[in-house]
Amino acid sequence: MGKILICYFSTGGEDIGAGENKEVGNTAVMAGLIADKLTAESHDVTSFRIQPANPYPSSYDQKLARAMEERSMQERPEYTEDVADFDDYDTVFIGYPIWCSDLPMIVYNFLEKHVFTGKVVIPFCTHGGSGESDTFRIVREKAVGSAPGDGLAIPGNLVDKPGGKKQIDHWLEQLAV
Ligand SMILES: Cc1cc2nc3c(=O)[nH]c(=O)nc-3n(C[C@H](O)[C@H](O)[C@H](O)COP(=O)(O)O)c2cc1C
Repeated sequence: MGKILICYFSTGGEDIGAGENKEVGNTAVMAGLIADKLTAESHDVTSFRIQPANPYPSSYDQKLARAMEERSMQERPEYTEDVADFDDYDTVFIGYPIWCSDLPMIVYNFLEKHVFTGKVVIPFCTHGGSGESDTFRIVREKAVGSAPGDGLAIPGNLVDKPGGKKQIDHWLEQLAV
């Protein structure tokens, strides 16, 4: 698997149904578990968080309104800084929350800004019940020239539970990274 990059977008904030304000988002927790396991197995791992130039409100309703607007306008929200030496990585994990049964528009921006030729690209996501919502296919389409790896989607409220870690560990073992 060579040099591994784990890029992810995660906002946290008010989590619908959970009644709590999450400082660390679900996808960030998932990205951390992936990084921990791969690092423990002596892989060369770098994590990169896609940070929006215009931060999202923590209120669920406000964030949803903005996400819907961005999606209907097919916007490509900017992020603050980019990955250094993207070309050096052999394997790229790309993580995101499902927003409106889709990838967040900022993740489209990230995918469209990079050249994935020759890399293995592995998507992962958290969601509130709708599963991966066909986003793994979209990631494969956008990451032109890459070799696809099997993605993993898990419910956001499971990531910090033992069952979530178990699923992630099992998936990574199947991927044989
Ligand atoms: C704007 C917005 C739209 C969402 N749309 C969906 C959806 O269509 N389907 C779904 O299952 N969950 C949806 N969710 C729930 C998130 O996917 C879920 O809470 C996720 O784990 C949040 O990840 P994060 O904490 O890393 O940001 C949505 C959440 C937000 C904030």
